[in-house]
Amino acid sequence: MFDLTEAPTPSDRPTITHPSGRNADPLMRITHLDLWYAPEAHALQDISFDLFAGEILAFIGPSGCGKSTMLKVLNRMHDDTRGVLITGNVTLEEQDIHAADLDPPLLRRRFGWVAQKPNPFPSSIWDNVAYGPRIHGLMRSRAEMAAHVEQCLRQAHLWDEVKDRLHDTAGTELSGGQQQRLCIARALSTQPDVLLMDEPTGSIDPIATQKVEDLMAELKADKAIVVVTHSMMQARRVADRVAYFHLGRLLEIGPTDRMFDAPESDEARRFMAGDFG
Ligand SMILES: Nc1ncnc2c1ncn2[C@@H]1O[C@H](COP(=O)(O)OP(=O)(O)OP(=O)(O)O)[C@@H](O)[C@H]1O
Ligand SMILES: [Mg+2]
Repeated sequence: MFDLTEAPTPSDRPTITHPSGRNADPLMRITHLDLWYAPEAHALQDISFDLFAGEILAFIGPSGCGKSTMLKVLNRMHDDTRGVLITGNVTLEEQDIHAADLDPPLLRRRFGWVAQKPNPFPSSIWDNVAYGPRIHGLMRSRAEMAAHVEQCLRQAHLWDEVKDRLHDTAGTELSGGQQQRLCIARALSTQPDVLLMDEPTGSIDPIATQKVEDLMAELKADKAIVVVTHSMMQARRVADRVAYFHLGRLLEIGPTDRMFDAPESDEARRFMAGDFG
């Protein structure tokens, strides 16, 4: 699918084993990454971490510490923001995502994005899910598209609730929780390898939240999921590993239990204890 030009393998840090204990190559590797929004706005500083298929990695930390900024680096969402400067290296399956010969739309297809506020397109449920496959030319016939739309809606546990109104307008006909599951179905529609979720349950109720969390646990089987959350309980429930950001730096990353039971930095300990946020 991609021109797999060899990316340099970072050799200045130890290999991190997969959170499951298996040895595996990381799906993504972030090395010495810095980001400036403007010369005086140095939002990310010297960030390095790996992301593995089959895991949920949670980004936590105080407001403004760079969690969303980091998430948007992963699928090159900053390309459209004027003035942003990024240095360092990000690879997906060992390919530099900033390589000049890489086609950004092809790259983005490998990522699904779920925002805090459900943001379905103001069109039908069908069109929300069919849009990505259509623009990428993934389906060869209407029948194939119909089967794919159904599969994505089933994966998002929404099919039974919407199968009789696929052509109704998504925004007006669905509850907030249903809209968020539709956005997840849409995010899955290009069969991404990485799901990026920025506070995906930040604006839905506890029952809808549980459905989304259950869904995340299922979906990680064949993907990597990065989730930004302000809920420590949620991070504990869903994440395999947790990354703690503080003032633009990644202070700590590790297995969820270790991070919560024995954080290494004072900042992380105080944040998790609710001292600041
Ligand atoms: N488009 C932008 N232009 C300039 N500065 C920005 C921009 N977006 C974010 N920032 C700044 O970058 C820093 C990190 O912001 P970011 O949104 O990544 O934080 P966050 O950890 O996601 O916070 P929150 O938990 O409140 O969502 C903040 O100081 C923020 O003001
Ligand atoms: Mg944010």
